[in-house]
Amino acid sequence: MENLRVLILAAGKSTRMKSKYAKVLHRAGGAALIEHVVRTARSISMDISIVVGHSAEKVRALVPEAKFVDQREQLGTGHAVLSARQTFSDYLGHVLVLPGDVPLIGAETLEAFLKFHRDGGFPASVLTADAPNPSGYGRIVRRNNNEVDSIVEHRDASPEVRKIPEINSGIYVFNAPVLFESLTRIRNNNAQGEYYLTDVIGILVSQQQKVGAFKVSNVEEILGINTRQELAHVDRVMRRRKCDSLMTDGVTIMDPDSTFIDVDVQIGPDTIIYPSVQIQGQSVIGEEVTIHSNNRITNSRIGSYTVMLEGCVIVDSSLGEHVYIGPYAHLRPGSQLGDRVKVGNFVEIKKSTLGDGSKAPHLSYLGDATIGKNVNVGAGVITCNYDGVSKHPTIIEDGAFIGTDSQLIAPVRIGKDAYVGAGSSITEDVPDESLAIARGRQVVKEGWVRQRKKK
Ligand code: UD1
Ligand code: CA
Repeated sequence: MENLRVLILAAGKSTRMKSKYAKVLHRAGGAALIEHVVRTARSISMDISIVVGHSAEKVRALVPEAKFVDQREQLGTGHAVLSARQTFSDYLGHVLVLPGDVPLIGAETLEAFLKFHRDGGFPASVLTADAPNPSGYGRIVRRNNNEVDSIVEHRDASPEVRKIPEINSGIYVFNAPVLFESLTRIRNNNAQGEYYLTDVIGILVSQQQKVGAFKVSNVEEILGINTRQELAHVDRVMRRRKCDSLMTDGVTIMDPDSTFIDVDVQIGPDTIIYPSVQIQGQSVIGEEVTIHSNNRITNSRIGSYTVMLEGCVIVDSSLGEHVYIGPYAHLRPGSQLGDRVKVGNFVEIKKSTLGDGSKAPHLSYLGDATIGKNVNVGAGVITCNYDGVSKHPTIIEDGAFIGTDSQLIAPVRIGKDAYVGAGSSITEDVPDESLAIARGRQVVKEGWVRQRKKK
């Protein structure tokens, strides 16, 4: 619709959530509620204003490209819209009002709603649905001729009105001048002592104006979040949607109920995901990757054909193709594994690079290390990168072999194709193609036990 602006209401506290943060900051499907709503709104119009109040700074920080309106005291949804009056003073077009706590609404539904509003030539339209459990929502009261009469909040409703299954989604389109004119007439003489946006509908009807009501069949889309239980429910719906779309695109997800994949994650076809996996943030997973149970991948890239055994935590890192990792490996931020790298049981890697074909199969800590190609890091090798004051780098050149249970005391460099004997404490650089052994020589005292027993 040409000439359409969006106004999102996000100033409310989260009284029923019992949280110190604004409700719209709570997360579902891997993003804050307000992020979901803004994302959908952007597909409709780039002109978005957001009414903020509680946790205003945090909301602003989450949504950088929007206009903000302050509602210092939260006196109700009508008062929230009224706070934006100045921003809309010269605007004669239509405004789509979205609550910040209804995150499942789809862009296609909004498009259809806007078309309905435009085709009907209404001054105001409301999006509704029949709900199996309408409790808590405002009800759409209709006249004998089926036209909208008013919206009555659950708390203000008579037992008769509470039987009405048709609920108000809190989503409307208004002719802006009409909206702001009507808002000056609303009062707060209701159960909550608030200025209700919903009262505008009754006011318009009382002025013989016809209000449009666009009823959607899928009530799920307009579920509002007022409690932690509702948050968990919407989170589940979003995650299921994400799993469904990935499965449609060729990803095998063995148990969608226990698989938590954030909205922005991308996964290539023929990847197989075992139960109880979390893939978060902006992670990108290639094709034919196998991810076994209890892996968490956050903001990381996993190359194609990689196998992740159980229990790995991968954060802000990247894995090449044909990598073999786990079980129980921990990649902390800034770790990069090349192609065909093997990282095995109980290996922790921090801010380090392992080149193509390198291996650290057992029980290692590698921190601030730059490790070349085809390096073998033996079981139990530790980079001693911290002297209690600062961190120091370790460099291991291509083809080096680090014997089991060695400590590399940084800063230190192990040359190309060099060997470090098992059990060494390496404090000095090892030149290319050399062998370094740094451990106490073995002493054998034959018959020592027998002699001791005699004493
Ligand atoms: C509102 C509707 C109800 C509808 C329901 C749909 C009113 C009076 N009621 O009720 O008919 O069925 O949504 O989910 O509008 N907000 C502000 N400032 C305020 C108050 C609220 O910005 O002063 C924001 C909130 O942050 C929230 C949205 O407006 O994002 C809705 O407010 P909420 O208190 O959740 O309204 P409901 O009681 O759910
Ligand atoms: Ca609500």
